[in-house]
Amino acid sequence: MIKSKRWLMACLVLASCGFTATTSPEASLKKVFKNDFLMGAALNGKQASGKDPEATAIITQHFNTISPENVLKWEAIHPQPEKYNFGPADAYVAFGRQHNMFTVGHTLVWHSQTPDWVFEDAHGKAAGKALLQQRMAEHINTVAGRYKGQIGGWDVVNEALNDDGTLRQSKWYTIIGEDYLAQAYQLARKADPKAELYYNDYNLWKPAKREGALRLVRSLQAKGLKVDGIGMQGHWGLESPSIAQIEESIVAFSKVGKVMITELDIDVLPNPSNRNGADIDATFAFDEKYNVYTNGLPEEVQQKLARRYADIFALFHKHREKIARVTFWGVTDADSWLNNWPIKGRTSYPLLFDRTYQPKPALDAVLKSVSKSSSSQ
Ligand code: XIL
Repeated sequence: MIKSKRWLMACLVLASCGFTATTSPEASLKKVFKNDFLMGAALNGKQASGKDPEATAIITQHFNTISPENVLKWEAIHPQPEKYNFGPADAYVAFGRQHNMFTVGHTLVWHSQTPDWVFEDAHGKAAGKALLQQRMAEHINTVAGRYKGQIGGWDVVNEALNDDGTLRQSKWYTIIGEDYLAQAYQLARKADPKAELYYNDYNLWKPAKREGALRLVRSLQAKGLKVDGIGMQGHWGLESPSIAQIEESIVAFSKVGKVMITELDIDVLPNPSNRNGADIDATFAFDEKYNVYTNGLPEEVQQKLARRYADIFALFHKHREKIARVTFWGVTDADSWLNNWPIKGRTSYPLLFDRTYQPKPALDAVLKSVSKSSSSQ
């Protein structure tokens, strides 16, 4: 695995044996994939309000769809029963309109980043079924209703499944029952009949969870509900999941609707062996041994990341008829949530642009993956 020093030097000087960090100034992900799928990034609040001009330049050059990293989550937009905080979400939607981008909504019903009051009554006791149903209805009507015609597609429900494919025992589930899912999709459709409605989750490459997602979406569709597709969060590693595992889910999900890769980032850092998936509550204490690249990413790992991205995009390109959108979870490495999850305070390198807004070899790899995929068919 470890290449010789001389090889590395030759690489650096000639840039002939790997992917390079310099791409042509006109290179554009959205142009390269224009006949294949939409290309997107999740924006944080600063980016969505246009206060990060260097990020805006990258976003407008490379992407034609955006997702909101946090501004549309319940705790952000609806922090108290009678209080909505629309400002940051309005700015996000305005950014999408201004730049003519397909604007995604994330997310209406989730167990995380939802304030405790949602699940409690006036005395701080668990809310009853009717109260929680009423809150869900009010929230979806208000939020999806406000952005009607402006948000092109909603992650209506996020992460309703356990890794074994059974339904997660979230408060939504334990208070309302399984029907909370159908109700959420029904309400979202009513609030904005034209918006696409998705189911979104992590670890969907796992066979049991894949089957669970298919069962869930099929059962909703069988009730006459509109579920347009499945978003596969792409919080993946350098080695796992395998291309074959991802491929099986893309193929399986294409039978029930659109397939989207919704939260793509590749973690290059070592992790505790029990890190698994992307449960935002599953965190670990800080330990230097998991924070190994504080002074920059070694060229060899840079190339490994680039090759991983090349393989992944060759797969996406192969299945371009099935995939509607690919969205990175962040713009530059500096923005990535992986600097703080599953361990706070690490220096992470999961995206295509570095901390100084410069392209990484991984960008070169993705831009070139189209020809690689075509020639290998
Ligand atoms: C993450 C954000 O990136 C962080 O800023 C926030 O602190 C926690 O949530 N799955 C999802 C996303 O569906 O909403 C999560 O986003 C990452 C995992």
